[in-house]
Amino acid sequence: MRALDHPLNLPTMAKDYCVLGIESSCDETGVALVRVSGQDLPVLLAHALYSQIEMHQAYGGVVPELASRDHIRRVLPLTQEVLHESGKTLKDVDVVAFTRGPGLAGALLVGAGVACALGAALGKPVLGVHHLEGHLLSPFLSADPPEFPFVALLVSGGHTQLMRVDGVGRYQILGETIDDAAGEAFDKSAKLLGLGYPGGPALSKLADVGNPEAYKLPRPLLHSDNLDFSFAGLKTAVMVQAKKLANVHGCGVEALPGTVLADLAASTQAAIVEVLVKKSLIALKQTRLTRLVVAGGVGANRNLRAQLNAQCAKRGVRVHYPELHLCTDNGAMIAMAAAMRLQSGIQTANAVYAFDVKPRWPLDAIQIAVE
Ligand code: KG4
Ligand code: ZN
Repeated sequence: MRALDHPLNLPTMAKDYCVLGIESSCDETGVALVRVSGQDLPVLLAHALYSQIEMHQAYGGVVPELASRDHIRRVLPLTQEVLHESGKTLKDVDVVAFTRGPGLAGALLVGAGVACALGAALGKPVLGVHHLEGHLLSPFLSADPPEFPFVALLVSGGHTQLMRVDGVGRYQILGETIDDAAGEAFDKSAKLLGLGYPGGPALSKLADVGNPEAYKLPRPLLHSDNLDFSFAGLKTAVMVQAKKLANVHGCGVEALPGTVLADLAASTQAAIVEVLVKKSLIALKQTRLTRLVVAGGVGANRNLRAQLNAQCAKRGVRVHYPELHLCTDNGAMIAMAAAMRLQSGIQTANAVYAFDVKPRWPLDAIQIAVE
């Protein structure tokens, strides 16, 4: 490694530089290029995404081995697309960022391997990014970026967390799910109702035409005195209710009349959304902060957005979201998180290409020590 074994020296680095970001933690391959100019908010030059949803649909969920193989097929063509779209070449890439975790090990290794190979070939430093930090900072790419400090509601397929965010790398977890994540609750309930994979968007679409008060479903930990969540019981309650209805109608759950399924979907969504909204409001009250950032795939849910907007408006709280198309996994958030870490000086990229990935990686692990 000799000559290349040095950290990227930020003070001597050009004022303007470009960060290429590669996301491959699950079922979406994302690549993006952002430009950093001094301490200005980094600007997204281009991004490209390939979703594997169609491929996994046949199996009712993500097949890790197939996911890895597909990332391999997509990542370089997507990189070329991004460079083409931004009018840049590989020579213009100053730092290569990749999702280091959490996620599927094989899938992460694809992004990490390609990023490190590109870095080594170009003689440029690399930086492994925490996927959840990518989600968390993705609203900074929106037309209405937040300011620190804020409360963040991070709701993805694998995580549900409320945190206090004082700056890049300054994350204090206020509460989190003790079992299933909100996205999992959407996905598992949707599967039970025969809505396939991924369930969140499908259940949410059906819920739009259903009655959210049709069935009484549990709101776990709603009245607990902490900010933790528990969604595992909800899918069981949905299953019990669905089977009851199937008995009444003398059919299987999937053959229930459309209106009944819509009512069940709406009631399920209402239960999840109510808990997320109430706990977010408590977090805002406890921290006395007046900004809320919502990030992660479930943040695309229209009902959640509408209820948070309404409740927060009453309390003088501003709510910030990522652009709708950047709520779910993408390369832009990875390039952005890397850029913001570099800008804030809490991390350097380096030219050591002996990469590893972290399939399990709590967000607290990347927190910087606060005096
Ligand atoms: O953040 P994300 O893309 O991946 C992870 O990091 O996990 O989140 C994916 C999750 C899935 O559970 C998906 O069903 C859910 O976000 N999701 C939604 C919606 N769009 C995506 N859930 C509810 N309503 C939506 N519109
Ligand atoms: Zn994600």
